[in-house]
Amino acid sequence: MKPTNHSAPRRVLITEEQIGRRVRELAAQISADFPEGPLYLIGILKGSFVFLADLARAVTTPCRVEFMGISSYGQNKTTSGQVRVTKDLDVSIEGRDVLVVEDIVDSGVTLSYLIRVLEQRRPRSIHVAAMLDKPDRRQRPVVIEYVGFTIPDEFVVGYGLDYAEDYRNLRDICVLEDVSVPL
Ligand code: PRP
Repeated sequence: MKPTNHSAPRRVLITEEQIGRRVRELAAQISADFPEGPLYLIGILKGSFVFLADLARAVTTPCRVEFMGISSYGQNKTTSGQVRVTKDLDVSIEGRDVLVVEDIVDSGVTLSYLIRVLEQRRPRSIHVAAMLDKPDRRQRPVVIEYVGFTIPDEFVVGYGLDYAEDYRNLRDICVLEDVSVPL
């Protein structure tokens, strides 16, 4: 049976408290690196929404909050390699300092595509903040200036991350034990 409605076995990998502490550290670093603002925080839907909300309130730099929708996974557990823009920015980023906010960087396919797209819009700078980095699965080289946690190659949910749209609202980051279960 497919694991829906938060019924699948899972174990806590990173607690809410650990996440909170790390977000404050990252925010202090970002605030020091961008004292002036406005810093354009670009949240990549949907997974970044929790991290973005926490980070935006923890930085002291004046920020603008924008969203972009990029999807390459669909209902699958691994990237299809086909990246799709599901929602574009509503504003110009020309001459702006941009911070892309991601929940996780896995293969790097999404981020490398996104950086290419954003660079064409001539921002002053582009940096990346990702709550999770899973370098073991990297297919494209990407630079992530602000990493929350580097994690092993396990399927994680919570803190914005989903499995078939479930689990995004878990407060901890958890490993879904039975990833062999077909959707
Ligand atoms: C997830 C995540 C990243 C991307 C990372 O998005 O939010 O955007 O995958 O994977 P990659 O490094 O292998 O490209 P997903 O497509 O699952 O959409 P979601 O954020 O709506 O869950």
